[in-house]
Amino acid sequence: MDAATFILFGSTGDLAKRKLFPALYNLFLEQKMPQHFSFIGLGRKPFTDAEFQSYVEQSLNTFSRRKPSDHSALKAFLGCFRYYALDVNDKAGYVELLKLVQKREQELGIPENRMFYLSVAPEFFDVIASNIKESGLGDTAGWKRLIIEKPFGHDLKSARALNAELSKSFEEEEIYRIDHYLGKPMVQNLETLVSANPVLGALWSNRHIANVQITASETVGVEERAGYYNSAGAIRDMFQNHLLQLLMMTAAISSPMQSAERNIRKQKIGVLRALRPISKEDAAHHIIRGQYGAGAIQEKPAVGYREEPGVDAASMTDTFVAARLWIDNSLWQDVPFYIRTGKRMKDKSTRIVIEFKAGIKEPYGSGEQPTEPNRLTIQINPDEKITLQLNQKNALNNGQLEPVNMEFSMPANQLPDGYELLLFDALRGDATFFAHWEEVELAWEWVQLVLEAFQENRLPLYPYPSGSYGPDAADALLEEQGFHWWQNE
Ligand code: BG6
Repeated sequence: MDAATFILFGSTGDLAKRKLFPALYNLFLEQKMPQHFSFIGLGRKPFTDAEFQSYVEQSLNTFSRRKPSDHSALKAFLGCFRYYALDVNDKAGYVELLKLVQKREQELGIPENRMFYLSVAPEFFDVIASNIKESGLGDTAGWKRLIIEKPFGHDLKSARALNAELSKSFEEEEIYRIDHYLGKPMVQNLETLVSANPVLGALWSNRHIANVQITASETVGVEERAGYYNSAGAIRDMFQNHLLQLLMMTAAISSPMQSAERNIRKQKIGVLRALRPISKEDAAHHIIRGQYGAGAIQEKPAVGYREEPGVDAASMTDTFVAARLWIDNSLWQDVPFYIRTGKRMKDKSTRIVIEFKAGIKEPYGSGEQPTEPNRLTIQINPDEKITLQLNQKNALNNGQLEPVNMEFSMPANQLPDGYELLLFDALRGDATFFAHWEEVELAWEWVQLVLEAFQENRLPLYPYPSGSYGPDAADALLEEQGFHWWQNE
């Protein structure tokens, strides 16, 4: 891996403390960091280098999956960290920053490879990118890369405007858009699961799959984020990015026999292009929006969204979205993809359920015994598990047909965090699990009409009790095709 400088905007923020420092530290322990690296933390607080290093150390003690125990390793890691107080609007500050970056490059004898990570509010993305360019920080003899977090815009228009701004300073190949769902180990495992297992790969299409159900349910409510969430809602916060990414991944992976093109990003773009648009007039037929009311989460009373601090008593913000989507290509024609996400639901669970078409009817001359459809459940979060449900005849129970599960679980709490995997990829220049601009744009294109339908109140806003599986109306989406949600039971 190339030696490089990691320049973090927003280094005193929450993400840095909880995720980024621990991710870098674990990579360092696993010798997955460049041997020589320079880290420059930026923020508004006036830290000295020593204060910053002790701030990083505290974050590791609190949030790292491996707590620092080897003093000399910790010292070597922290020794790479420097701090510079920067007002992101102050052009002169960037010139000083460039001097510091160059000084460290010389001290360490490392090439001008520079990674800029923008862990700041999205309204600062364009000013930072243009100041990087103007100050000369971006004129490197080595590579430069920009990592940004969602939201990439608020709608199609603002996303395009943001991209146009960023493109003035960085090439598409240099921009790494993080969708942290793509960093989850089980999501990164999806392609292998299908391509390395012909037993699944051969079934991965409309010939054998009846429907796909993707759920990302959360028990948490809006918490302290009402300011952001009120204008985002579940559709922007989860659906446009994380849920559509899971859909793309599920539909884009296919067995090597079916796909000559092994580039997953291109295949994902192909999936989005084939996604059947939903007109505003028809939105209510394919999309259900909901908002949580009062209820209980694991027996603890929970207030409704409109009673949450900072939320308007008449708020129309969606905290739940379910949708039925169709992918009009030869692999997926006629397979409904059902997607749902919501806050304050019964359980925290991100999973993909593949329901296979029903087997031979009356297989053993016992026509009265119903069989359950085979299902492959890929549990992504909080635990990582793959379950294949089969049917078998139980000789201990009069030869009754019964469903059985084959299950494989990953050991809990030992897996690398998504940010570890993503930062490692970005440092190596592998963008496979980052969102390409075309993915983001096409996802916004699809969602835009839904946003407008929401805005124009063309769909009811269904209330659902906190602690439930969401509004009942979401069941009807599946019932129309004779299916039902497979809950986490
Ligand atoms: C974030 C959303 O992107 O994802 C949050 O902004 C949500 O609202 C979170 O809670 C869920 O992530 P995870 O990894 O816990 O499923």
